[in-house]
Amino acid sequence: MMEFRASTDAVAIADAIVVGVGEGRVFDPKGTALSEKLPWLAKHLDDAEFTGKAGQSVVVPGGEAVPYKTVVLVGMGPTADLERIRRAAGTAARSLPKCAAVATTLHLGVSGGAEAVGLGFTLGAYTFTKHKSEKKPSTIATVILLEGSADDVAGAVRGATIGDGVNLARDLINEPAMGKSPATLADRATAIATEVGLGIRVLDEKQIESEGLGGLRGVSLGADNPARLVELRYEPKNARGFLAIVGKGIVFDSGGLSLKPADSMETMKTDMSGAAAVFAAMRTIALLKLPVRVVGITPLTENMPGGSALRPGDVLKIRNGKTIEVLNTDAEGRLVLADGLSLAAEQKPDLIVDVATLTGAIQIALGEKIAGLFGTEAATAKVAAAAESAGERVWRMPLPDDYRKNIDSDVADMKNTGTKYGGAINASMLLKEFVGDVPWAHLDIAGPARATEAEHYIPKGGTGFGVRTIVELARQMS
Ligand code: BES
Ligand code: MN
Ligand code: ZN
Repeated sequence: MMEFRASTDAVAIADAIVVGVGEGRVFDPKGTALSEKLPWLAKHLDDAEFTGKAGQSVVVPGGEAVPYKTVVLVGMGPTADLERIRRAAGTAARSLPKCAAVATTLHLGVSGGAEAVGLGFTLGAYTFTKHKSEKKPSTIATVILLEGSADDVAGAVRGATIGDGVNLARDLINEPAMGKSPATLADRATAIATEVGLGIRVLDEKQIESEGLGGLRGVSLGADNPARLVELRYEPKNARGFLAIVGKGIVFDSGGLSLKPADSMETMKTDMSGAAAVFAAMRTIALLKLPVRVVGITPLTENMPGGSALRPGDVLKIRNGKTIEVLNTDAEGRLVLADGLSLAAEQKPDLIVDVATLTGAIQIALGEKIAGLFGTEAATAKVAAAAESAGERVWRMPLPDDYRKNIDSDVADMKNTGTKYGGAINASMLLKEFVGDVPWAHLDIAGPARATEAEHYIPKGGTGFGVRTIVELARQMS
Protein backbone atom coordinates (compact mmCIF):
# COMPACT_ATOMS: atom_id res chain seq x y z
CA MET A 1 0.00 0.00 0.00
CA MET A 2 1.07 3.59 -0.59
CA GLU A 3 2.10 5.46 2.52
CA PHE A 4 0.00 8.47 3.59
CA ARG A 5 1.24 11.30 5.76
CA ALA A 6 -0.09 14.61 6.94
CA SER A 7 2.21 17.61 6.88
CA THR A 8 2.19 21.37 6.76
CA ASP A 9 5.57 21.46 5.10
CA ALA A 10 6.18 18.82 2.45
CA VAL A 11 8.97 20.73 0.77
CA ALA A 12 11.80 18.50 1.90
CA ILE A 13 10.23 15.24 0.78
CA ALA A 14 7.80 15.71 -2.10
CA ASP A 15 8.93 15.53 -5.76
CA ALA A 16 5.57 16.70 -7.00
CA ILE A 17 2.51 18.62 -5.94
CA VAL A 18 -1.05 18.06 -7.11
CA VAL A 19 -3.59 20.87 -6.67
CA GLY A 20 -7.20 21.09 -7.73
CA VAL A 21 -8.37 24.14 -9.68
CA GLY A 22 -11.98 25.23 -9.74
CA GLU A 23 -13.84 26.12 -12.94
CA GLY A 24 -12.91 29.62 -14.10
CA ARG A 25 -9.38 28.90 -12.84
CA VAL A 26 -10.12 29.34 -9.14
CA PHE A 27 -6.98 28.47 -7.16
CA ASP A 28 -6.81 27.33 -3.54
CA PRO A 29 -4.16 29.06 -1.37
CA LYS A 30 -1.53 26.53 -2.46
CA GLY A 31 -2.41 27.06 -6.11
CA THR A 32 -2.26 30.83 -5.65
CA ALA A 33 1.20 30.56 -4.05
CA LEU A 34 2.41 28.37 -6.91
CA SER A 35 1.06 30.69 -9.59
CA GLU A 36 2.78 33.66 -7.93
CA LYS A 37 6.12 31.84 -8.03
CA LEU A 38 5.65 30.65 -11.61
CA PRO A 39 4.94 33.88 -13.54
CA TRP A 40 4.70 32.08 -16.90
CA LEU A 41 2.01 29.71 -15.59
CA ALA A 42 -1.01 31.84 -16.51
CA LYS A 43 0.10 32.12 -20.15
CA HIS A 44 0.85 28.40 -20.23
CA LEU A 45 -2.64 27.58 -18.92
CA ASP A 46 -4.12 29.94 -21.55
CA ASP A 47 -2.25 28.09 -24.29
CA ALA A 48 -3.33 24.72 -22.91
CA GLU A 49 -6.91 26.04 -22.72
CA PHE A 50 -6.97 24.97 -19.07
CA THR A 51 -9.96 26.55 -17.37
CA GLY A 52 -10.46 24.19 -14.41
CA LYS A 53 -13.22 22.22 -16.07
CA ALA A 54 -13.61 18.73 -14.55
CA GLY A 55 -11.42 16.26 -16.43
CA GLN A 56 -8.74 18.74 -17.50
CA SER A 57 -5.18 18.38 -16.25
CA VAL A 58 -1.86 20.08 -16.89
CA VAL A 59 1.58 18.84 -15.86
CA VAL A 60 4.28 21.52 -15.64
CA PRO A 61 7.88 21.50 -14.40
CA GLY A 62 8.47 23.26 -11.09
CA GLY A 63 11.84 24.62 -12.11
CA GLU A 64 13.91 26.58 -9.60
CA ALA A 65 11.17 28.78 -8.21
CA VAL A 66 9.19 26.14 -6.32
CA PRO A 67 10.54 23.20 -4.33
CA TYR A 68 8.80 20.59 -6.49
CA LYS A 69 10.13 18.95 -9.66
CA THR A 70 6.61 18.70 -11.03
CA VAL A 71 3.37 20.60 -10.56
CA VAL A 72 0.08 19.01 -11.57
CA LEU A 73 -3.07 21.10 -11.89
CA VAL A 74 -6.34 19.21 -12.14
CA GLY A 75 -9.69 20.69 -13.06
CA MET A 76 -12.41 20.24 -10.41
CA GLY A 77 -15.37 21.82 -12.23
CA PRO A 78 -17.75 24.31 -10.58
CA THR A 79 -17.73 22.50 -7.20
CA ALA A 80 -15.47 19.79 -5.86
CA ASP A 81 -17.29 16.67 -4.66
CA LEU A 82 -16.02 13.22 -3.65
CA GLU A 83 -16.14 11.76 -7.16
CA ARG A 84 -14.34 14.80 -8.62
CA ILE A 85 -11.63 14.35 -5.97
CA ARG A 86 -11.28 10.61 -6.74
CA ARG A 87 -11.03 11.36 -10.44
CA ALA A 88 -8.56 14.20 -9.95
CA ALA A 89 -6.33 11.99 -7.79
CA GLY A 90 -6.58 9.19 -10.36
CA THR A 91 -5.74 11.54 -13.23
CA ALA A 92 -2.76 12.86 -11.28
CA ALA A 93 -1.51 9.35 -10.47
CA ARG A 94 -1.71 8.38 -14.14
CA SER A 95 -0.07 11.54 -15.49
CA LEU A 96 2.78 12.04 -13.01
CA PRO A 97 6.26 11.31 -14.31
CA LYS A 98 8.59 9.16 -12.19
CA CYS A 99 8.31 10.38 -8.64
CA ALA A 100 8.29 8.80 -5.20
CA ALA A 101 6.48 11.33 -3.03
CA VAL A 102 3.52 13.51 -3.99
CA ALA A 103 2.06 16.33 -1.94
CA THR A 104 -1.54 17.37 -2.46
CA THR A 105 -4.32 19.65 -1.25
CA LEU A 106 -7.08 17.70 -3.05
CA HIS A 107 -8.55 16.40 0.23
CA LEU A 108 -9.23 19.87 1.65
CA GLY A 109 -12.69 21.38 1.82
CA VAL A 110 -14.89 18.32 1.26
CA SER A 111 -15.90 15.96 4.07
CA GLY A 112 -14.49 12.50 3.28
CA GLY A 113 -11.99 14.08 0.89
CA ALA A 114 -9.00 12.21 2.29
CA GLU A 115 -10.59 8.81 1.68
CA ALA A 116 -11.32 9.90 -1.89
CA VAL A 117 -7.67 10.92 -2.31
CA GLY A 118 -6.40 7.56 -0.96
CA LEU A 119 -8.76 5.68 -3.25
CA GLY A 120 -8.11 7.82 -6.34
CA PHE A 121 -4.32 7.64 -6.10
CA THR A 122 -4.38 3.89 -5.45
CA LEU A 123 -6.70 3.20 -8.39
CA GLY A 124 -4.96 5.60 -10.78
CA ALA A 125 -1.51 4.16 -10.05
CA TYR A 126 -2.61 0.64 -11.08
CA THR A 127 -0.79 -1.11 -13.92
CA PHE A 128 -0.93 -4.72 -15.06
CA THR A 129 2.62 -5.59 -16.06
CA LYS A 130 2.88 -9.20 -14.88
CA HIS A 131 3.37 -10.53 -18.41
CA LYS A 132 5.47 -7.63 -19.79
CA SER A 133 9.24 -8.07 -20.14
CA GLU A 134 9.67 -4.41 -19.32
CA LYS A 135 7.63 -3.62 -16.24
CA LYS A 136 6.81 0.02 -15.60
CA PRO A 137 4.84 0.14 -12.37
CA SER A 138 3.91 3.47 -10.81
CA THR A 139 6.68 4.87 -8.61
CA ILE A 140 4.43 6.77 -6.21
CA ALA A 141 5.24 5.46 -2.73
CA THR A 142 4.08 8.32 -0.51
CA VAL A 143 1.18 10.77 -0.64
CA ILE A 144 1.43 13.78 1.66
CA LEU A 145 -1.83 15.41 2.69
CA LEU A 146 -0.93 19.08 3.10
CA GLU A 147 -2.56 20.71 6.15
CA GLY A 148 -4.04 17.26 6.89
CA SER A 149 -5.05 15.77 10.26
CA ALA A 150 -4.57 12.32 11.77
CA ASP A 151 -8.19 11.63 10.76
CA ASP A 152 -7.31 12.53 7.20
CA VAL A 153 -4.47 10.01 7.21
CA ALA A 154 -6.80 7.31 8.58
CA GLY A 155 -9.34 8.21 5.88
CA ALA A 156 -6.74 8.01 3.13
CA VAL A 157 -5.61 4.60 4.39
CA ARG A 158 -9.24 3.45 4.34
CA GLY A 159 -9.56 4.64 0.74
CA ALA A 160 -6.32 2.91 -0.21
CA THR A 161 -7.52 -0.32 1.44
CA ILE A 162 -10.61 -0.22 -0.78
CA GLY A 163 -8.41 0.70 -3.76
CA ASP A 164 -6.12 -2.27 -3.09
CA GLY A 165 -9.23 -4.47 -3.12
CA VAL A 166 -10.33 -3.08 -6.49
CA ASN A 167 -6.79 -3.58 -7.82
CA LEU A 168 -6.80 -7.19 -6.62
CA ALA A 169 -9.99 -7.74 -8.64
CA ARG A 170 -8.32 -6.04 -11.64
CA ASP A 171 -5.32 -8.39 -11.39
CA LEU A 172 -7.59 -11.43 -11.37
CA ILE A 173 -9.65 -10.13 -14.30
CA ASN A 174 -6.64 -9.14 -16.42
CA GLU A 175 -4.93 -12.50 -15.91
CA PRO A 176 -5.24 -14.70 -19.03
CA ALA A 177 -7.65 -17.63 -18.72
CA MET A 178 -4.75 -20.12 -18.97
CA GLY A 179 -3.44 -18.76 -15.67
CA LYS A 180 -6.72 -18.86 -13.76
CA SER A 181 -8.40 -22.26 -13.98
CA PRO A 182 -11.26 -22.72 -11.49
CA ALA A 183 -8.89 -24.72 -9.24
CA THR A 184 -6.23 -21.99 -9.39
CA LEU A 185 -8.81 -19.30 -8.56
CA ALA A 186 -10.07 -21.40 -5.65
CA ASP A 187 -6.45 -21.59 -4.40
CA ARG A 188 -6.24 -17.79 -4.64
CA ALA A 189 -9.44 -17.52 -2.61
CA THR A 190 -7.96 -19.89 -0.02
CA ALA A 191 -4.85 -17.72 0.21
CA ILE A 192 -7.02 -14.60 0.67
CA ALA A 193 -9.05 -16.37 3.36
CA THR A 194 -5.89 -17.30 5.24
CA GLU A 195 -4.45 -13.81 4.86
CA VAL A 196 -7.40 -11.91 6.34
CA GLY A 197 -9.08 -14.62 8.42
CA LEU A 198 -12.15 -15.64 6.42
CA GLY A 199 -13.92 -18.99 6.58
CA ILE A 200 -13.81 -20.89 3.29
CA ARG A 201 -15.43 -23.94 1.70
CA VAL A 202 -14.35 -25.15 -1.73
CA LEU A 203 -16.53 -27.68 -3.55
CA ASP A 204 -14.74 -29.79 -6.19
CA GLU A 205 -16.39 -31.31 -9.26
CA LYS A 206 -17.63 -34.38 -7.35
CA GLN A 207 -19.17 -32.29 -4.57
CA ILE A 208 -20.70 -29.94 -7.14
CA GLU A 209 -22.54 -32.96 -8.51
CA SER A 210 -23.46 -34.51 -5.16
CA GLU A 211 -24.69 -31.13 -3.83
CA GLY A 212 -27.12 -30.86 -6.75
CA LEU A 213 -25.48 -27.88 -8.47
CA GLY A 214 -26.76 -28.94 -11.88
CA GLY A 215 -26.33 -25.56 -13.56
CA LEU A 216 -22.65 -25.24 -12.68
CA ARG A 217 -22.03 -28.90 -13.50
CA GLY A 218 -23.81 -28.58 -16.86
CA VAL A 219 -21.78 -25.56 -17.97
CA SER A 220 -18.53 -27.30 -16.91
CA LEU A 221 -19.16 -30.44 -18.99
CA GLY A 222 -17.34 -29.24 -22.09
CA ALA A 223 -14.21 -28.13 -20.21
CA ASP A 224 -11.17 -30.22 -19.31
CA ASN A 225 -10.39 -28.05 -16.27
CA PRO A 226 -12.80 -29.12 -13.50
CA ALA A 227 -15.22 -26.63 -11.90
CA ARG A 228 -15.13 -25.32 -8.35
CA LEU A 229 -17.54 -23.47 -6.11
CA VAL A 230 -16.01 -21.19 -3.49
CA GLU A 231 -17.90 -19.96 -0.45
CA LEU A 232 -16.14 -17.35 1.69
CA ARG A 233 -17.49 -16.40 5.10
CA TYR A 234 -16.90 -13.33 7.24
CA GLU A 235 -18.56 -13.69 10.64
CA PRO A 236 -17.56 -11.00 13.12
CA LYS A 237 -18.94 -11.29 16.67
CA ASN A 238 -20.53 -7.83 16.54
CA ALA A 239 -22.40 -8.44 13.25
CA ARG A 240 -25.50 -6.27 12.75
CA GLY A 241 -26.82 -7.74 9.50
CA PHE A 242 -26.28 -10.61 7.07
CA LEU A 243 -25.34 -9.96 3.44
CA ALA A 244 -24.86 -12.61 0.74
CA ILE A 245 -22.93 -11.80 -2.42
CA VAL A 246 -22.80 -14.05 -5.47
CA GLY A 247 -20.36 -13.55 -8.36
CA LYS A 248 -20.37 -15.07 -11.85
CA GLY A 249 -17.06 -16.86 -12.30
CA ILE A 250 -16.77 -17.97 -15.93
CA VAL A 251 -12.98 -18.00 -16.30
CA PHE A 252 -13.39 -18.14 -20.06
CA ASP A 253 -16.60 -17.91 -22.08
CA SER A 254 -16.18 -19.45 -25.54
CA GLY A 255 -19.96 -19.73 -25.78
CA GLY A 256 -19.75 -23.54 -25.61
CA LEU A 257 -21.34 -25.37 -28.56
CA SER A 258 -23.26 -22.15 -29.29
CA LEU A 259 -19.79 -20.84 -30.08
CA LYS A 260 -19.06 -17.13 -30.05
CA PRO A 261 -17.49 -15.46 -33.09
CA ALA A 262 -13.73 -14.96 -32.68
CA ASP A 263 -13.83 -11.23 -32.00
CA SER A 264 -16.46 -11.61 -29.28
CA MET A 265 -14.18 -14.12 -27.54
CA GLU A 266 -11.20 -11.75 -27.30
CA THR A 267 -12.31 -10.28 -23.99
CA MET A 268 -13.97 -13.34 -22.49
CA LYS A 269 -11.25 -13.98 -19.92
CA THR A 270 -13.03 -11.12 -18.11
CA ASP A 271 -16.24 -13.15 -17.68
CA MET A 272 -15.25 -13.87 -14.07
CA SER A 273 -15.35 -10.17 -13.10
CA GLY A 274 -18.28 -10.84 -10.75
CA ALA A 275 -16.36 -13.55 -8.88
CA ALA A 276 -13.28 -11.31 -8.75
CA ALA A 277 -15.41 -8.54 -7.22
CA VAL A 278 -16.72 -10.98 -4.60
CA PHE A 279 -13.22 -12.17 -3.60
CA ALA A 280 -11.93 -8.60 -3.43
CA ALA A 281 -14.95 -7.26 -1.52
CA MET A 282 -14.73 -10.08 1.05
CA ARG A 283 -11.06 -9.31 1.64
CA THR A 284 -11.71 -5.58 1.94
CA ILE A 285 -14.69 -5.97 4.27
CA ALA A 286 -12.55 -8.16 6.55
CA LEU A 287 -9.66 -5.67 6.51
CA LEU A 288 -12.02 -2.81 7.36
CA LYS A 289 -13.48 -4.96 10.16
CA LEU A 290 -17.05 -3.96 9.23
CA PRO A 291 -19.56 -5.28 11.78
CA VAL A 292 -21.74 -7.19 9.32
CA ARG A 293 -21.88 -10.91 8.48
CA VAL A 294 -21.10 -11.62 4.84
CA VAL A 295 -21.06 -14.78 2.76
CA GLY A 296 -19.53 -14.70 -0.73
CA ILE A 297 -20.42 -17.42 -3.22
CA THR A 298 -18.65 -17.88 -6.55
CA PRO A 299 -19.41 -20.65 -9.04
CA LEU A 300 -16.21 -21.06 -11.11
CA THR A 301 -15.96 -22.82 -14.47
CA GLU A 302 -14.90 -22.47 -18.08
CA ASN A 303 -17.57 -22.52 -20.78
CA MET A 304 -15.97 -24.71 -23.46
CA PRO A 305 -17.23 -26.76 -26.45
CA GLY A 306 -15.51 -30.09 -25.61
CA GLY A 307 -16.74 -33.55 -26.65
CA SER A 308 -18.94 -33.95 -23.59
CA ALA A 309 -20.21 -30.38 -23.70
CA LEU A 310 -23.73 -29.32 -22.84
CA ARG A 311 -25.95 -29.42 -25.95
CA PRO A 312 -28.76 -27.10 -26.97
CA GLY A 313 -31.93 -28.89 -25.82
CA ASP A 314 -30.37 -30.40 -22.68
CA VAL A 315 -32.27 -29.91 -19.42
CA LEU A 316 -30.51 -29.10 -16.14
CA LYS A 317 -31.82 -29.39 -12.60
CA ILE A 318 -30.69 -26.51 -10.38
CA ARG A 319 -29.90 -26.71 -6.65
CA ASN A 320 -33.39 -25.51 -5.63
CA GLY A 321 -35.08 -28.24 -7.69
CA LYS A 322 -36.22 -26.13 -10.65
CA THR A 323 -35.31 -27.23 -14.20
CA ILE A 324 -33.92 -25.19 -17.09
CA GLU A 325 -33.90 -26.11 -20.77
CA VAL A 326 -30.63 -24.95 -22.32
CA LEU A 327 -31.37 -23.62 -25.78
CA ASN A 328 -28.20 -21.56 -26.10
CA THR A 329 -25.05 -22.72 -24.32
CA ASP A 330 -23.71 -19.15 -24.49
CA ALA A 331 -26.34 -18.07 -21.97
CA GLU A 332 -24.30 -19.89 -19.32
CA GLY A 333 -24.00 -17.19 -16.69
CA ARG A 334 -27.61 -17.48 -15.54
CA LEU A 335 -27.16 -21.29 -15.23
CA VAL A 336 -24.26 -21.07 -12.78
CA LEU A 337 -25.82 -18.10 -10.95
CA ALA A 338 -29.04 -20.10 -10.47
CA ASP A 339 -27.07 -22.52 -8.29
CA GLY A 340 -25.15 -19.74 -6.55
CA LEU A 341 -28.35 -17.80 -5.76
CA SER A 342 -30.08 -20.99 -4.52
CA LEU A 343 -27.20 -21.64 -2.11
CA ALA A 344 -27.32 -18.02 -0.94
CA ALA A 345 -31.11 -18.07 -0.41
CA GLU A 346 -30.85 -21.27 1.69
CA GLN A 347 -28.82 -19.33 4.25
CA LYS A 348 -31.64 -16.78 4.71
CA PRO A 349 -29.52 -13.60 4.55
CA ASP A 350 -31.11 -10.14 4.90
CA LEU A 351 -30.07 -9.33 1.35
CA ILE A 352 -28.57 -11.10 -1.68
CA VAL A 353 -26.60 -9.14 -4.25
CA ASP A 354 -25.26 -10.85 -7.35
CA VAL A 355 -22.67 -9.35 -9.68
CA ALA A 356 -22.28 -10.73 -13.20
CA THR A 357 -21.06 -9.93 -16.69
CA LEU A 358 -24.36 -11.41 -17.75
CA THR A 359 -25.59 -10.02 -21.07
CA GLY A 360 -24.46 -8.19 -24.17
CA ALA A 361 -27.96 -6.70 -24.14
CA ILE A 362 -27.23 -4.54 -21.10
CA GLN A 363 -24.34 -2.99 -23.04
CA ILE A 364 -26.78 -2.12 -25.80
CA ALA A 365 -29.13 -0.54 -23.25
CA LEU A 366 -26.70 1.33 -21.00
CA GLY A 367 -23.35 1.46 -22.82
CA GLU A 368 -19.95 0.61 -21.41
CA LYS A 369 -19.89 2.62 -18.20
CA ILE A 370 -23.17 1.92 -16.44
CA ALA A 371 -24.34 -1.31 -14.82
CA GLY A 372 -27.94 -2.53 -14.97
CA LEU A 373 -29.60 -2.92 -11.57
CA PHE A 374 -32.49 -5.37 -11.24
CA GLY A 375 -34.30 -6.91 -8.28
CA THR A 376 -36.76 -6.32 -5.48
CA GLU A 377 -37.74 -2.77 -4.55
CA ALA A 378 -36.02 -2.21 -1.19
CA ALA A 379 -32.92 -4.19 -2.18
CA THR A 380 -32.31 -2.20 -5.35
CA ALA A 381 -32.85 1.05 -3.47
CA LYS A 382 -30.11 0.05 -1.02
CA VAL A 383 -27.70 -0.99 -3.76
CA ALA A 384 -28.41 2.18 -5.76
CA ALA A 385 -27.63 4.30 -2.69
CA ALA A 386 -24.42 2.39 -1.97
CA ALA A 387 -23.30 2.65 -5.61
CA GLU A 388 -24.01 6.38 -5.65
CA SER A 389 -21.89 7.10 -2.61
CA ALA A 390 -19.14 4.70 -3.74
CA GLY A 391 -18.94 6.43 -7.13
CA GLU A 392 -20.02 3.49 -9.32
CA ARG A 393 -22.70 4.14 -11.90
CA VAL A 394 -25.77 1.90 -11.94
CA TRP A 395 -29.22 2.31 -13.47
CA ARG A 396 -32.44 0.72 -12.25
CA MET A 397 -34.11 -1.63 -14.76
CA PRO A 398 -37.60 -3.19 -14.64
CA LEU A 399 -38.64 -6.81 -14.02
CA PRO A 400 -42.24 -6.84 -15.27
CA ASP A 401 -44.29 -9.92 -14.27
CA ASP A 402 -45.76 -10.32 -17.74
CA TYR A 403 -42.24 -10.86 -19.14
CA ARG A 404 -42.03 -14.19 -17.27
CA LYS A 405 -43.60 -15.91 -20.25
CA ASN A 406 -40.56 -14.91 -22.33
CA ILE A 407 -38.64 -17.68 -20.59
CA ASP A 408 -41.38 -20.35 -20.67
CA SER A 409 -40.06 -23.70 -21.94
CA ASP A 410 -41.96 -26.48 -23.69
CA VAL A 411 -40.18 -29.18 -21.71
CA ALA A 412 -38.79 -27.66 -18.48
CA ASP A 413 -39.72 -25.04 -15.87
CA MET A 414 -38.00 -22.36 -17.93
CA LYS A 415 -35.52 -21.91 -20.76
CA ASN A 416 -32.22 -20.06 -20.70
CA THR A 417 -32.99 -17.82 -23.67
CA GLY A 418 -35.73 -15.26 -24.16
CA THR A 419 -37.31 -13.16 -26.84
CA LYS A 420 -35.31 -11.16 -29.35
CA TYR A 421 -35.47 -7.91 -27.36
CA GLY A 422 -34.96 -7.15 -23.68
CA GLY A 423 -32.23 -9.74 -23.22
CA ALA A 424 -30.94 -8.32 -19.95
CA ILE A 425 -34.45 -8.38 -18.48
CA ASN A 426 -35.12 -11.93 -19.66
CA ALA A 427 -31.87 -13.12 -18.02
CA SER A 428 -32.86 -11.38 -14.77
CA MET A 429 -36.35 -12.94 -14.88
CA LEU A 430 -34.62 -16.33 -14.75
CA LEU A 431 -32.36 -15.35 -11.83
CA LYS A 432 -35.42 -14.22 -9.89
CA GLU A 433 -36.65 -17.84 -9.83
CA PHE A 434 -33.77 -18.81 -7.53
CA VAL A 435 -33.79 -16.27 -4.71
CA GLY A 436 -36.98 -17.45 -2.97
CA ASP A 437 -38.38 -14.64 -0.86
CA VAL A 438 -35.05 -13.07 0.09
CA PRO A 439 -34.62 -9.38 -0.87
CA TRP A 440 -32.35 -9.47 -3.90
CA ALA A 441 -30.48 -7.18 -6.28
CA HIS A 442 -28.67 -8.17 -9.48
CA LEU A 443 -25.95 -6.05 -11.07
CA ASP A 444 -25.37 -6.79 -14.75
CA ILE A 445 -21.83 -5.40 -15.15
CA ALA A 446 -21.14 -6.60 -18.72
CA GLY A 447 -20.46 -2.96 -19.70
CA PRO A 448 -18.40 -1.40 -16.89
CA ALA A 449 -16.41 -4.54 -15.90
CA ARG A 450 -13.98 -3.67 -18.69
CA ALA A 451 -12.76 -0.34 -20.02
CA THR A 452 -11.81 0.05 -23.68
CA GLU A 453 -9.79 3.16 -22.85
CA ALA A 454 -8.25 4.62 -19.73
CA GLU A 455 -9.77 7.66 -18.00
CA HIS A 456 -9.25 9.30 -14.58
CA TYR A 457 -8.80 6.44 -12.06
CA ILE A 458 -9.84 3.72 -14.51
CA PRO A 459 -7.15 1.90 -16.50
CA LYS A 460 -7.77 0.10 -19.78
CA GLY A 461 -8.87 -3.50 -19.18
CA GLY A 462 -10.47 -4.98 -16.06
CA THR A 463 -11.92 -2.23 -13.86
CA GLY A 464 -12.86 -4.12 -10.69
CA PHE A 465 -16.38 -2.66 -10.96
CA GLY A 466 -18.67 -3.76 -8.12
CA VAL A 467 -16.09 -4.01 -5.33
CA ARG A 468 -16.69 -0.45 -4.11
CA THR A 469 -20.49 -0.79 -4.19
CA ILE A 470 -20.44 -4.06 -2.23
CA VAL A 471 -18.04 -2.68 0.39
CA GLU A 472 -20.15 0.48 0.74
CA LEU A 473 -23.31 -1.62 1.03
CA ALA A 474 -21.72 -3.66 3.84
CA ARG A 475 -20.72 -0.39 5.49
CA GLN A 476 -24.26 0.99 5.22
CA MET A 477 -25.74 -2.25 6.62
CA SER A 478 -23.47 -2.09 9.65
N1 BES B 1 -20.54 -13.33 -20.95
C1 BES B 1 -21.58 -13.06 -21.89
C2 BES B 1 -22.09 -11.62 -21.78
C3 BES B 1 -21.12 -10.55 -22.18
C4 BES B 1 -21.08 -10.09 -23.48
C5 BES B 1 -20.29 -9.98 -21.25
C6 BES B 1 -20.20 -9.10 -23.84
C7 BES B 1 -19.41 -8.98 -21.60
C8 BES B 1 -19.36 -8.53 -22.90
C9 BES B 1 -22.75 -13.99 -21.64
O1 BES B 1 -22.42 -15.25 -21.15
C10 BES B 1 -23.42 -14.21 -22.97
O2 BES B 1 -22.79 -14.76 -23.82
N2 BES B 1 -24.68 -13.77 -23.10
C11 BES B 1 -25.39 -13.90 -24.32
C12 BES B 1 -26.76 -14.43 -24.00
C13 BES B 1 -27.58 -14.83 -25.20
C14 BES B 1 -26.94 -16.04 -25.86
C15 BES B 1 -28.97 -15.15 -24.77
C16 BES B 1 -25.47 -12.53 -24.97
O3 BES B 1 -25.66 -11.54 -24.25
O4 BES B 1 -25.28 -12.44 -26.17
MN1 MN C 1 -21.92 -16.61 -22.70
ZN1 ZN D 1 -20.69 -15.37 -20.06
